[in-house]
Amino acid sequence: MTAALKVEGLVKQYRQARALDGIDLEVREGEFFGLLGPNGAGKTTLINILAGLTRPTYGSAEVMGFDVMREYPQSRRALGVVPQELVYDPFFTAREVLRVQSGYFGIRKNDDWIEHVLHNLGMDEHADKNMRALSGGMKRRVLVAQALVHKPPVIVLDEPTAGVDVDLRQMLWQFIRSLNKEGHTVVLTTHYLEEAENLCERIAMLKQGRLVALDSTHNLLSRRLEHQAQLKIDNDPPPSIGLKRGPDNNWIFIFQEFTELEVMLAAIRTAGIKVLEMQLVEPDLEDVFTEIIRNA
Ligand SMILES: Nc1ncnc2c1ncn2[C@@H]1O[C@H](COP(=O)(O)OP(=O)(O)OP(=O)(O)O)[C@@H](O)[C@H]1O
Ligand SMILES: [Mg+2]
Repeated sequence: MTAALKVEGLVKQYRQARALDGIDLEVREGEFFGLLGPNGAGKTTLINILAGLTRPTYGSAEVMGFDVMREYPQSRRALGVVPQELVYDPFFTAREVLRVQSGYFGIRKNDDWIEHVLHNLGMDEHADKNMRALSGGMKRRVLVAQALVHKPPVIVLDEPTAGVDVDLRQMLWQFIRSLNKEGHTVVLTTHYLEEAENLCERIAMLKQGRLVALDSTHNLLSRRLEHQAQLKIDNDPPPSIGLKRGPDNNWIFIFQEFTELEVMLAAIRTAGIKVLEMQLVEPDLEDVFTEIIRNA
């Protein structure tokens, strides 16, 4: 099967910075894929290369099997990108922007689809306003609509929810999820790790232009090394037990193996301290991310 996205040995050297330092990555058709990493990790550079906006220094990139340089028109047509930066033409209305964009792909009679997209992004009442008259969140919606206008098999969203209210986020994810269910491949970058955790089946993490993790969201969450227990106890424990003070009169115990938890509880009992409450804190993607990025 053709990969939706495939990059090999990708390097991007700017004068000052090495934005990408040898990336190999495949995103399968139909996946909901997360591309995460701290500021400056190279996410947007990678996306720009896939969209044919930036030339790689070395390596290759393909969208639906089309090389982004040798087969630019086909690869570009297979891809819809929601850019991180708000760029727009102030003199067009939202609807006009979408028609112009359709024309750019040689598509004419797609008014029904344009209506469908506008409606699903909650833009019915704003479609005929000039771009400059739209709020930031509304402009962001137009960018999303613009990326979808040619029904691309692969949709890449570069921080689409930055500065976006809860309503739009939910609406956007509902719509993008339904497109994913219909078979569109979705790649998402976000700094809201909860979003990535909820939406993405697989996640790649970048740091300084390198791939530092690539796994299913499930595996990433379960391979976390550290566990955490929160306890309420009836007396201060001796320091040797290794409990640290946490918020709300809790004591925190960090451990790697569950046997350490047994040893800690036995030591507490020996010290004559009673456990009033205890809960294990489930690691979330943010913990995993912090740990991976720190150790990489
Ligand atoms: N046009 C450019 N000229 C020079 N350096 C650039 C250019 N674009 C990006 N860079 C550098 O490349 C590196 C990667 O930037 P990039 O925008 O890809 O990161 P990012 O992961 O998208 O970050 P963010 O989360 O902040 O959006 C950074 O060090 C950045 O300064
Ligand atoms: Mg970026």
